[in-house]
Amino acid sequence: MADKDTIGIASDHAGYELKSALKAELGGLGFAALDLGTESGEKSVDYPDFARALAEAMKAGKFSRGVLICGTGIGIGMAANRHAWIRCGVVHDETSARLTRQHNDANVMAVGQRLIGVETAKASLKVFLSTPYEGGRHVQRVAKLA
Ligand code: RB5
Repeated sequence: MADKDTIGIASDHAGYELKSALKAELGGLGFAALDLGTESGEKSVDYPDFARALAEAMKAGKFSRGVLICGTGIGIGMAANRHAWIRCGVVHDETSARLTRQHNDANVMAVGQRLIGVETAKASLKVFLSTPYEGGRHVQRVAKLA
């Protein structure tokens, strides 16, 4: 059983600064952040490697929810969704954060450091972590993702 108080987080170099900000925000919200890299905004890396690191740690039961950051959130979100146990929604604001939880039962959110501001990202993270899945009409659709 995954530890519900731990949230996995990872980024490429283009998401490194926002990853640092969101890690601090997780602490403020009462969660432990398990940081799976990258370790610098200076060294160019490949976002699929960090999506995979988060996916494998989730599969191993280290956490059940995660946050991924790259320049746009799009590439790292695509990479995350190659892993069958991940439902990653790219989040741009509080509304998309709420809806990907309510409708898609997303277990990972992806954000783009180059696209949204840090305060919007923090607010979106808070909504993502506090919004329950609605179930109901969405259950059959989410099941088909698997
Ligand atoms: C890195 O330059 C950038 O391409 C990557 O962070 C991401 O935005 C891709 O989707």
